[in-house]
Amino acid sequence: MITEKDIEKIFGEFLKQIKDKKMRQMTVKVWTDGCRDGGWKTVKELEKMPFTLLTETYGVSFVEHTKAVTQGAMELAKAQTENYREMPYPIDMDRLIVGGLLHDVGKLLETTPDGKGGYKKSKTGACMRHPVSGTVMVKMAGFSDEVANIIACHAKEGEGAPQVIETVFIHQADFATFNPLVMKNGGKLIQ
Ligand SMILES: [Fe+2]
Repeated sequence: MITEKDIEKIFGEFLKQIKDKKMRQMTVKVWTDGCRDGGWKTVKELEKMPFTLLTETYGVSFVEHTKAVTQGAMELAKAQTENYREMPYPIDMDRLIVGGLLHDVGKLLETTPDGKGGYKKSKTGACMRHPVSGTVMVKMAGFSDEVANIIACHAKEGEGAPQVIETVFIHQADFATFNPLVMKNGGKLIQ
């Protein structure tokens, strides 16, 4: 069983930057519930899970991706707050960090081991993509509609949809990790 302590250890550096204690605890709970419901039983198993089935990931794991996206989005926010004389919109850093840590949490239900050392889409995944299952998970946990917007609209489902600013940053940080891998696979990443 993957415990709250395990999740706190994996994402501790980000969790400690969430100022709202309740949001921090809820984030950890969504992760542990997701691990339980998705059948991820050990930290070792979880840490091996690839972040996407849509392209070769060259060993980049789901956990690494989640951290990279969270950090990337935080840096995008910082780039604006530190350089704009006046911010045209407020940025909620708690919401941004929580959104980063949970944007793909639905993948815990969407991806499953294929029994041959690889991974495949689960039955749940065939029924709904991770932005949908993840949105259900965060709303069931009691998160706000604004946090739900990040999960619901961070991927292609959110194109053209109204978004909170934190969704915009998570989306950009997410695709900054995904697109280079797709390009590398297609021979379009110059190296
Ligand atoms: Fe992602």
